[in-house]
Amino acid sequence: MKTLGSNFWKKYFQVYDALNELIPYSALLSTIVEMLDIHDGDTVLDAGSGTGNLSILITQAGGKVVAFDSSQEGMALHRCKQPTAILINGDLMNPLPFDNSSFNKICSNNVIYTIPKKYRESLFREFYRILRPGGIIVVSNIRRNFSPTSIYGDHVRSSIRLYGLWRTTCNVVKLLFPIIRIFYYNLRIQSANHFHSYSFIDSGEQHSMLELAGFADISQDYKVYSDQAILNRAIKR
Ligand SMILES: C[S@@+](CC[C@H](N)C(=O)[O-])C[C@H]1O[C@@H](n2cnc3c(N)ncnc32)[C@H](O)[C@@H]1O
Repeated sequence: MKTLGSNFWKKYFQVYDALNELIPYSALLSTIVEMLDIHDGDTVLDAGSGTGNLSILITQAGGKVVAFDSSQEGMALHRCKQPTAILINGDLMNPLPFDNSSFNKICSNNVIYTIPKKYRESLFREFYRILRPGGIIVVSNIRRNFSPTSIYGDHVRSSIRLYGLWRTTCNVVKLLFPIIRIFYYNLRIQSANHFHSYSFIDSGEQHSMLELAGFADISQDYKVYSDQAILNRAIKR
């Protein structure tokens, strides 16, 4: 089975945070925080926290975040940006190292598609086990056949609307190479998918996994990230 090793993720994270300048990515993270409905002191698991972009926003909203990821490289960058972050290095394909009902909220953005399909069902069961009754889960993932150029095009159009043509041109020049590299790495992830170790999300897939795991009030598939990702929200009754 072809997988992407730690060297891949190291290079990936070296450019990953350029995404923070991409309007559709910032909008996606804001939508996730909004859907989590964070209250002061909520305990939140960010499953596959990467460089901590989502964890940091949730902390700013008042959540106490546990950032969980398998990449030491991503976590090192997270640590630089948020020295007080609670970081746990681990593998989402294994049983999660948390007690039952540990969290008020769970989120996971653009992670499940990197987890081989055969591990997904048990991961959602684990999410259910560690969420408190009444707790909220929000998961979002890039969909099958997503188009990176749609995300970039959407960014350029939004930037022109918000900041005008001159500032957008400077921004486009500055972002071009990092974004090309990120999209290239995403293509590598997509190509690994042909060997069946990675698989982007189909319509209804997250919904079914949430249902199978026992979650209730599962939302419809929301199209987010310039319509290139699918987001679902659900509750543990
Ligand atoms: C595309 S990044 C998304 C990062 C972050 N959630 C965000 O929104 O910016 C995918 C992340 O999933 C992590 N990841 C992939 N497979 C994992 C696994 N089996 N266990 C834990 N983390 C994993 C990677 O290390 C990476 O940080």
